[in-house]
Amino acid sequence: MDKREFLKTLGGASLALLFGEEAWARYAALPPATLAQDEDFWATIRRKYVLTPDYINLENGFYLMQSQPVLEAFIQRVRDINVQASRYMRTRMPDDNLAVRTRLAAMGGCPVEELIITRNTTESLDTVIGGFHWQAGDEAVMAQQDYGAMLDMFGLQARRHSIVNRVVSLPMDPRSDDDIVRLYESAITPKTRLLMICHMVNITGHLLPVAAVADMAHRHGVQVMVDGAHTFGQLEFDIPDLHADYFASSLHKWLASPLGAGILWVRRDHIPELWPTFAELGIPDTDIRRLNHTGTHPVHTILGINDALDFHESIGIKRKEARLRYLQRYWTDKVRGVPHIYLNTPSDARRSGAIANVGVTGIQPGALGDALFNRYKIWTVAIDGAGVRGVRVTPHLFTSTGELDALVGALRELAA
Ligand SMILES: Cc1ncc(COP(=O)(O)O)c(C=O)c1O
Repeated sequence: MDKREFLKTLGGASLALLFGEEAWARYAALPPATLAQDEDFWATIRRKYVLTPDYINLENGFYLMQSQPVLEAFIQRVRDINVQASRYMRTRMPDDNLAVRTRLAAMGGCPVEELIITRNTTESLDTVIGGFHWQAGDEAVMAQQDYGAMLDMFGLQARRHSIVNRVVSLPMDPRSDDDIVRLYESAITPKTRLLMICHMVNITGHLLPVAAVADMAHRHGVQVMVDGAHTFGQLEFDIPDLHADYFASSLHKWLASPLGAGILWVRRDHIPELWPTFAELGIPDTDIRRLNHTGTHPVHTILGINDALDFHESIGIKRKEARLRYLQRYWTDKVRGVPHIYLNTPSDARRSGAIANVGVTGIQPGALGDALFNRYKIWTVAIDGAGVRGVRVTPHLFTSTGELDALVGALRELAA
């Protein structure tokens, strides 16, 4: 598929080719919060996805399916790479990798010299956790609601280097940012070296005040590592504005790139401090690529990030964020306060995004997930752990309000 074909099927700098110049001019002029409620506009976007008629997919928090233009472009890239084979690797791969890194750095508002492409958030964060110069007795701070793989990686450092992990538990509905800042601060001691914080907690959708926590941690001389698996590509922000030392995300989540792509951002002065997982001694200690030796890997996945970026940029992060926030509030506002239904997501709209979690009193999370799927053909995921009991509901850009009405109806029936 050439660039023009891609633009025709959606992607590139504008949606004018998809909607027609006139309609697009009208849509583009609307404030994102208004466009977020325009079902005709989003129905056209929806047609760019192939969806199963068998069930309503409200479990897009694991990873987000690619739109058809992005998928088709990716498949073509697989074919092209297969033809060019080692000649591509030897002549074009380094420049192409740098070009994609440069686009991602522009999206994250950071210098390209501080960002590398990895396979996913897990690889990125574990590169930091495992690369830290731990001494016995050093301490790390994290939350019970953080992602299991990273908690395990800290657990591994405890076994290997005798570090101490201090784990806080996040409240569902903090009264203020200060509640969260003080919670993390309460776990810091003179031995604390690293604090991990989720930008958005995956099981509840809770958006945390990362910059305020980072400022507090820095006052104690503690470095801050942000798990941004669920925010890069979902919300509008610049990575440096989080005031952290390390940031990671998965591009197959909210950028909806081909599977197996992520980023790691390391503040420039920390680059020489980390031990790389895989060595490449020819690269200077100040060059972030020293943390990125991957061996031979699926380069078409990295090239496919270009197509995901085209699609993402054609809609624009402001419109995307507004629509995703609208969809979450659309259904949560309809069930909040309904007898026997409870939400495991902050009620303050500023503290969440696309993801929310809901439970029904007296129904186990697994049974609720099963009932939603078996009786109503609605696919969600049950969460039962870290003090959170319910099903996680995550819409995507293709989600319609009609589908969310079906969810609301199902929850009301189950609660009754
Ligand atoms: C908060 C959070 N961190 C990290 C991850 C791991 O992402 P990946 O499997 O893409 O490495 C996830 C995955 O769902 C997540 O939700």
